[in-house]
Amino acid sequence: MSLLQKYAEVSWLDGQNIRPYLFVRKDNRTQNPGSVHALDWFPFKPVYMDPLKMSHVGFANQILKMEHKAFGSTGMAMPRWVFYDCAIMPGFVAGFAHRTQTLPEAFRKVIEVDEQLEWTPISLFIIIPARREGEWVAHNLSSINALIERQDRLYGLGFLTKAFGLWFANIETLCGMTQWNSPALRLHTYYGPFEILTAYTPVHSYPQTLTYRSQVTPSHWHLFFKHTEPADFSVHFEETGFILDPQKESSLKQLQLKIENQEGPFYLNPKEVKSRPLDAPLKIYRKKA
Ligand SMILES: CC(C)(COP(=O)(O)OP(=O)(O)OC[C@H]1O[C@@H](n2cnc3c(N)ncnc32)[C@H](O)[C@@H]1OP(=O)(O)O)[C@@H](O)C(=O)NCCC(=O)NCCS
Repeated sequence: MSLLQKYAEVSWLDGQNIRPYLFVRKDNRTQNPGSVHALDWFPFKPVYMDPLKMSHVGFANQILKMEHKAFGSTGMAMPRWVFYDCAIMPGFVAGFAHRTQTLPEAFRKVIEVDEQLEWTPISLFIIIPARREGEWVAHNLSSINALIERQDRLYGLGFLTKAFGLWFANIETLCGMTQWNSPALRLHTYYGPFEILTAYTPVHSYPQTLTYRSQVTPSHWHLFFKHTEPADFSVHFEETGFILDPQKESSLKQLQLKIENQEGPFYLNPKEVKSRPLDAPLKIYRKKA
């Protein structure tokens, strides 16, 4: 029995009505997908779409409709040209798709459905390769869960969307950006040791953005569903004594200065991030010597 089948919350992932999709141009396809990380969570045949084919533009339209609504309130929805120039051309675009015929009413209410499509995208993960050898950058994560009432959500959709992409594309080191008060931080910290590269980022449109680097560790992923931390977290990490207040710009700048002064690297504890209110203070950790 795969780990995924152990968790009743994710029984929606049946491979029949919901399947992973790849919206990756042919030249960017992954050689030997899923061969770096041993994981049996996604035994389903993905739906392959080709973003360079005119006939597949309807799928792109549906991705963008969902993404625009999910990011609407943050002012960070992705312009269509950014999707093409900065995601499709250099990178990897994937997610989960729902069979259109059986789309639940709750989903139909929030996105205008294209009945011509056999599959409707309900989540999105985009990664692009960085210049640094072996490093990738996460450019977008979104899920239809952000648009619907709690009782209609597919628990873990966003988390599994990123997990699928990291596994399928054989990603070992991933950087990314998010805001300190974003619910997404609760997901991002569970993919592996989570290093803070910037705590305050004035070059971004939102200076309260943090930049991170994850060492992708699939053996930690099931802990997301158990709401716990890796058993050996305290073996490898210790508290620095610095408590970050994500609501205070001065606190973010203080941590940023520590990073710039080479006092790091600094890390977060996934369980703490997931269990505290979104705006509550956070302990900052370092690796044990
Ligand atoms: C952030 C996002 C991708 C999360 O995906 P999701 O499918 O909603 O989340 P999942 O079902 O995978 O995970 C659920 C967990 O996420 C956290 N979470 C999700 N939405 C939340 C919210 N509105 N408030 C607080 N926590 C939330 C919780 O920890 C929850 O688990 P828990 O209730 O057991 O603690 C999705 O909400 C989204 O698309 N948001 C808008 C776009 C965005 O901000 N993207 C992130 C860019 S970095």
